[in-house]
Amino acid sequence: MKVLIVYDTVSPMRLTAKVAETIGGALKENGIEVVSFFVKDVDKAIVKDYDCLVAGAPTIYFRASKGIMQFLDDLPSRKFSGKLAAAFDTQLQSRFSGSAVKGIEGKLKDLGFKLVTAPLIAYVEGKMNQMQLKEGELEKAKNWGQAVAEALSK
Ligand SMILES: Cc1cc2nc3c(=O)[nH]c(=O)nc-3n(C[C@H](O)[C@H](O)[C@H](O)COP(=O)(O)O)c2cc1C
Repeated sequence: MKVLIVYDTVSPMRLTAKVAETIGGALKENGIEVVSFFVKDVDKAIVKDYDCLVAGAPTIYFRASKGIMQFLDDLPSRKFSGKLAAAFDTQLQSRFSGSAVKGIEGKLKDLGFKLVTAPLIAYVEGKMNQMQLKEGELEKAKNWGQAVAEALSK
């Protein structure tokens, strides 16, 4: 089972990158082969070589960052049936925050991927461009990575 993690990250704090790294670590600890790329560094042609795509992004202006949506929009439509996927995001914990995972999951389904688990939402707090992950969110990311690994080994 080979997993490709593709994440976007836009702020100087690189919080979504940290979440991606934690998820990757948890998958590896559970015996899954993982590679992880910043969205701007990934070659789109390799996506088909993986069993599962884990895609994540920060929530920016109520939706997924442009980088991750551009990446997903550029993949060939409906060519991924039989492949698995899961989504994660970072966002403020507020009913006004919007959500990146919603758009990512919708696009993954359009592409033909089957979602293996509910998305991970990692909450952040603080001032603009000085945000940090809320306490316990990296632990949550680790547990989510473990849950993805379990779902993939079924
Ligand atoms: C320009 C900008 C717009 C943002 N808009 C939202 C938003 O609409 N909702 C939200 O929950 N968080 C919003 N945030 C907060 C980011 O989602 C949060 O800081 C995220 O963790 C950044 O991830 P990164 O460090 O990986 O870029 C925004 C941040 C920036 C810089």
